[in-house]
Amino acid sequence: MESFSELIKKRRSTRKFTEEELTQDEVVLLLKAALMSPSSKRSNCWQFVVVDDREMLARLSRCKAHGAELLEGAPLAVVVLADPLASDVWIEDASIASLMIQLEAEDLGLGSCWVQVRERSTAEGVPADEVVRELLDIPLQMQVLSIIAVGHKAVERKPFDEDNLQWEKVHINKYGAQ
Ligand SMILES: Cc1cc2nc3c(=O)[nH]c(=O)nc-3n(C[C@H](O)[C@H](O)[C@H](O)COP(=O)(O)O)c2cc1C
Repeated sequence: MESFSELIKKRRSTRKFTEEELTQDEVVLLLKAALMSPSSKRSNCWQFVVVDDREMLARLSRCKAHGAELLEGAPLAVVVLADPLASDVWIEDASIASLMIQLEAEDLGLGSCWVQVRERSTAEGVPADEVVRELLDIPLQMQVLSIIAVGHKAVERKPFDEDNLQWEKVHINKYGAQ
């Protein structure tokens, strides 16, 4: 791995992927990162559905009105679920796991994009999580937070420009002080 500082500078959302599939080793590393995520009280309230079936990815790309189209061109997606009965902070735990998958993807030289499912819906008003639940047979007690698309980057995006960071959002010791 390059330095972590370089990795987070380079990570940008990837919405266009090449046709190349991921190797089994790459998929295992992505899932290891998810399973090693920090979790409140180590509840590990999350579960993950790995989807590499292109037909299913195309169906998932229609789970909400906007912003899921990229799943149709992705070779792999990890659907991040969590059980609210297992943890009162399931959103935080599932969000961290989602990001861990994205960071591992970047470390492997792959691109990724978070597709939000929770609180999203289709143009007809059907909740996106219901669409995903039905497609993947997800049990009722599990909530669907996100779908993380992963694949080889079709285009390399510009890294962050460190000269343009919003330092005004950082306050020292007291809000408003810099
Ligand atoms: C909670 C969350 C939800 C997101 N949902 C979507 C989404 O549904 N579709 C999408 O294309 N990108 C989605 N993104 C990616 C953001 O649009 C992206 O991170 C943001 O525009 C900044 O770009 P960057 O990741 O390249 O720095 C989401 C990101 C986060 C953190």
